[in-house]
Amino acid sequence: MSFKSFQFIFPHYRRMERWFGGIAQWWLPKQPELHEIRLTTPRLTAPVTLVQLSDLHCAAWTREDYIKATVGLCLDIQPDLMVWTGDFFHSARKQIARVMPLFSPLHQAIPTFGVLGNHDFDDVLDELLPLLTGCGITFLRGEQRLLTCNGQPVWLGGIDDFFICKRDVPAAYFEQDRAVFRLLLSHQPDVVFRLPEDAVDLMLSGHLHGGQLNFPLVGPLYLPSPRGREFLDGRLTRHRGVPVHVNVGLGYTLMPLRINCPPAISVIRLEPDVAGANRHNVDSR
Ligand SMILES: [Fe+2]
Repeated sequence: MSFKSFQFIFPHYRRMERWFGGIAQWWLPKQPELHEIRLTTPRLTAPVTLVQLSDLHCAAWTREDYIKATVGLCLDIQPDLMVWTGDFFHSARKQIARVMPLFSPLHQAIPTFGVLGNHDFDDVLDELLPLLTGCGITFLRGEQRLLTCNGQPVWLGGIDDFFICKRDVPAAYFEQDRAVFRLLLSHQPDVVFRLPEDAVDLMLSGHLHGGQLNFPLVGPLYLPSPRGREFLDGRLTRHRGVPVHVNVGLGYTLMPLRINCPPAISVIRLEPDVAGANRHNVDSR
């Protein structure tokens, strides 16, 4: 559910958010977990480390010490590349203006790219985007870049939220040199079912928050994705020949509460397949 539709049902939501922001400090975690994912690929000759952040949803309850702890954890990992997979916005631009500059030291130290999520289109994007780019994130909006990571070429592509924009990954993305590792960022994981077989070597997504409220035996009460359950465990899964990892997010939608899915940073370690296997091997946590 978008913020706009939620606010229609609860017109005093912004006041509720400030109230939540006060009491939630009693139970919110001091820092996110680290989820480590490993992928072996014949398309790299040296290891590459990525760090993925997602779904921060900057809100009244987003604490500065939590962000500083997150930045510290990421800097300690010393990744070759940082990526954000959308949903910075929660209910007000002023919260992004308060929170996101705290990531600037991280973004200045590590090349950082990102894509937009569905919630980021809830506000005036023309004003939101300069706020985010000013904090050191380069956004990929239906485009791709040839990067050098640990001395090796890597194609990095990204698209705006598919649920909002309904624009597929540009076909040109799949025509690149297949000897080069191809990484795709898409907020919505279901995009993988629209890709050609073996279209990319890794897709990173967010959006699901790990279910956010995962009750024992029942699972999540609501998932904003038709096939979301296939991506829920926070590991690396393969769909249409494409390895997919869905980060569980750093923040919260609508209320500062998670059950059985704490916030997490994803650390993705790409390792060369010295045996030159034809297909990727996947392993996680
Ligand atoms: Fe989200």
